Amino acid sequence: MKTSGHTILITGATRGIGRELARTFGQRDNRIIAVGRDASRLAEICDEVPNAWTISADLNVHDDIDRLVSFVENEVGHLSLLINNAGIQFNYNLVDNADAAELFTAEVETNLLAPVRLTTSLLPLLLRSDAEAAVVNMTSILALTPKESAPSYCASKAGFRFFSKTLRWNLDGSNVRVFEVLPSTVDTDMTAQIVGEKLGPAEIATALLNAMDADQYEVPVGLTGQLQELMKTSPEQAEEIVRLA
Ligand SMILES: NC(=O)c1ccc[n+]([C@@H]2O[C@H](COP(=O)([O-])OP(=O)(O)OC[C@H]3O[C@@H](n4cnc5c(N)ncnc54)[C@H](OP(=O)(O)O)[C@@H]3O)[C@@H](O)[C@H]2O)c1
Repeated sequence: MKTSGHTILITGATRGIGRELARTFGQRDNRIIAVGRDASRLAEICDEVPNAWTISADLNVHDDIDRLVSFVENEVGHLSLLINNAGIQFNYNLVDNADAAELFTAEVETNLLAPVRLTTSLLPLLLRSDAEAAVVNMTSILALTPKESAPSYCASKAGFRFFSKTLRWNLDGSNVRVFEVLPSTVDTDMTAQIVGEKLGPAEIATALLNAMDADQYEVPVGLTGQLQELMKTSPEQAEEIVRLA
């Protein structure tokens, strides 16, 4: 599908991968609706991305999602690309953390339930788009097999991966495509505590542009492709490597 001429809503656009996606798609003759909670960073996006709309919204608050959807419907009037990128990651142990249930709930709300609510709310607008449209979901290499120290992150991303697949099937025959991007570790605030090799956010943006060009709906980036190959031949080894990563 084409990579320019879209009206694109990007969640988590204030930092990291989302901010890079806003810049990259903004430079390619697309209209950007940048969403996040941090008002000062949203203001910075207006300097970086010409003609961007910025909307402050906490995606865990249903009223904020309703306000966002109403803004897109009534003020923008059109949407052809929804990029569900916002996410959080907690590292903890399910057994010795007294707040495990709260952490698990918060992570599933942000990483899975919020994008599901936003997507289903915006689908009518995407389906009404004259041109081809798409939903892009940012899952993770950890949607394939879990890391021991990130139980709810991995569960939420695996759930988001299954949502992406079933949504793609449900939309078969419509004008709306569903892309799933599965990066390995990317150098952002989320991974500040991790040492070792990391992708740059620009590599995620380039991989998505290439995948859209090629109509390739599953987009492994970085080490994810190698892990998928290893899972075919040595699934136990693959699981152990990611478990302790
Ligand atoms: N970094 C990696 O290694 C990696 C690898 C694979 C997949 N991913 C996925 O890629 C996506 C982006 O990650 P990142 O590394 O760029 O993270 P990041 O730098 O920590 O940025 C996270 C973004 O999500 C937004 N956000 C979080 N909770 C929100 C909420 N309740 N409402 C609205 N916005 C919210 C933040 O907005 P505010 O700051 O304005 O609140 C911020 O813009 C995530 O889904 C992550 O799981 C990351």
